[in-house]
Amino acid sequence: MFTDKPAALKLRHDIKGIDEKVLVKGNKKRKYTYFDNAASTPPLIPILKEVDDYLNWYSGVHRGTGYKSLISSRIYDDCHEIIGKFVGADLSMDTVVLVKNTTEAINKLSFRLQLQSHDIVIITAMEHHSNELPWRARAQVKYAQIDNNGRLDLNNLECLLKKYHPQVKLLAVCGASNVTGHVNDVHLLAKMAHAYGCKILVDGAQLVPHQRFNMKAHSDSDHIDFLAFSGHKIYSPFGLGVLIGPKETFMNGSPEYQGGGTVKLVLKNEIFWANPPDREEAGSPNVVGAFALARTLKYLNELGMDALAKHEEELTAYTLEKLGDLNSLRVYGSQPRVGVISFNLKDLPHALVGAILCFEAGIGLRTGCFCAQNYVRHLLGVKEDYQQLEFYERNEIDKIPGMVRISLAPYNTREEVDHLIKWLRYIVENRYEFRRRYKFSRVHGGFIPADLLNKEYISNIYNRYMGL
Ligand SMILES: Cc1ncc(COP(=O)(O)O)c(C=O)c1O
Repeated sequence: MFTDKPAALKLRHDIKGIDEKVLVKGNKKRKYTYFDNAASTPPLIPILKEVDDYLNWYSGVHRGTGYKSLISSRIYDDCHEIIGKFVGADLSMDTVVLVKNTTEAINKLSFRLQLQSHDIVIITAMEHHSNELPWRARAQVKYAQIDNNGRLDLNNLECLLKKYHPQVKLLAVCGASNVTGHVNDVHLLAKMAHAYGCKILVDGAQLVPHQRFNMKAHSDSDHIDFLAFSGHKIYSPFGLGVLIGPKETFMNGSPEYQGGGTVKLVLKNEIFWANPPDREEAGSPNVVGAFALARTLKYLNELGMDALAKHEEELTAYTLEKLGDLNSLRVYGSQPRVGVISFNLKDLPHALVGAILCFEAGIGLRTGCFCAQNYVRHLLGVKEDYQQLEFYERNEIDKIPGMVRISLAPYNTREEVDHLIKWLRYIVENRYEFRRRYKFSRVHGGFIPADLLNKEYISNIYNRYMGL
């Protein structure tokens, strides 16, 4: 087990592409700074080597008789267990279903719960669309309110649980927000949900990569019933998502997707479904994705999730302190948080700030509403407005209210944060010049500098990989 600094250094050392340079103003190259880990994190070199090695034995699973299939099947099946154990699932009672991403996991659960139109699902007003829209499609959704600092209002949640009991079938809540990084006390929320006879789903997309997570024993009142998360947000970008929940939830009725691998016996008039997880994993599964994620989780366990979390916490505190020194900058949300920080630079469009940081500072981050439009509107204090639809349709994202988001991972450094801060200060001081130099392009869907010939540069890199 590493202590925090060495663990973070080792992680950084193993990040694929960490030394990649990009073109910036003045025709210079600069080491790329990646602050968009909440979207997807880069993969790890040792795991890529393992994947490459394993591919010698890659094969279809569960159907073949050859050695490669036997070995691949065993690996694939065991990956479920490794992934489940990483988050403290009780594998005697829970099943680990491997899907494409968090979005698919939540959609699958929304189908699986066999909700009736009068059933109620409580979500919070801080959810990612992936933990909002699937519920709106299948049940009545009630939103637990959030305060002006972006925190869940526990009194309001309790009122909803009480008011709608026993119609409430599920409380679906993010472990950490992808906008403010705010961390919900999910075990306290589990206790509240259970006290009113409903189950809890934690959307762990932004929490599992940042902190040790434990679903806890089924007998505990603060046990997490369902958990969803994505491999690509935890250094494993091979298209794997995870849904964990009680086996019994997946035992009743037919699965959402039906076909090869989901059955025991098929008669002309009757189908006998396989047990979960097979029943839920129709078709040929993502063996490579499962292998990569299981190996990545083992790697992170060896490095020490606590050490990595500690380092990220310090880096986040450092970043917030430095951002706090910049007047004309507003940070949204409040503690406790993972390393996800959204802000605005006073009167500058978020997309312009993102473009300057991309093209001049070599920093990658995200701007806009981050698939959480209701939450972002609430934090910005703006109302719902149908006119925004026209802006989306015309690709005029400069007119849509939003924020600039940096999302840190433990491999990021103070030097990278200093580089960002220096540029934010520079942008504020030179904002009139930047506004003149950058033009909004509807085709590009963002701001581009009039004087930087990066079109050819992007095409060259594209051609290198796409062979054109
Ligand atoms: C909190 C949260 N939930 C769900 C998702 C959806 O994850 P995916 O795109 O892997 O389906 C995201 C993605 O950013 C997220 O941040």
